[in-house]
Amino acid sequence: MLGQKGAVIWLTGLSGSGKSTLAYALERRLIEIGQLTFALDGDNVRMGLCKDLGFRPEDRNENIRRIGEVAALFAEAGLLVLTSFISPYRADRIAAKATSKGNFIEVYLDVSVDVCEKRDPKGLYKKARAGEIQNFTGISAPYEEPANPDVRVNTDELTVEQCVDKIVAHLQERGQFDVSELRAAADKEKAENS
Ligand code: ADX
Repeated sequence: MLGQKGAVIWLTGLSGSGKSTLAYALERRLIEIGQLTFALDGDNVRMGLCKDLGFRPEDRNENIRRIGEVAALFAEAGLLVLTSFISPYRADRIAAKATSKGNFIEVYLDVSVDVCEKRDPKGLYKKARAGEIQNFTGISAPYEEPANPDVRVNTDELTVEQCVDKIVAHLQERGQFDVSELRAAADKEKAENS
């Protein structure tokens, strides 16, 4: 019915690396070309499904496990799922990939702690440096870089739209969809309706 293949687009990177901003720009682009999407992020997950979890390593393991399961279910239903979580542990990301049976695109927002700390959009790095927040990723808790991400984007060097272009190009390359065909179909529909 949907005429599309489900997959999980998993964004990983430090707090302040631009995951949510990129996810929503990517979602807009995917909707434009007629793809049904669903975005999972801290706002809709840590307030509900994972509200019992904090930021100790075992809490983060469980946070990512649940998100991996939910994302896989949505992907099985045919949606393109965009997830925006730090997901600092390599093993957790590998497990999430296995859960979605390989329909998983790992996108690494490769931005240094320095840059994220300068941005500090929520003022959390400052609090972490002052010792007001414990286990803060990049300051007092680890972030394990992906060894071999499917897409690597540096949001310090590229614009959001350039990052979106890079991800969409990768999706096309792996046969997720054909943008030119989707655009032609959308144009045809527009012409028929006018
Ligand atoms: S994850 O490590 O389990 O993947 P998740 O992406 O859900 O983390 O949540 C990260 C967000 O929670 C950060 O962007 C920040 O706003 C907030 N946060 C609060 N405490 C911490 C902490 N100790 N470490 C990292 N992020 C934290």
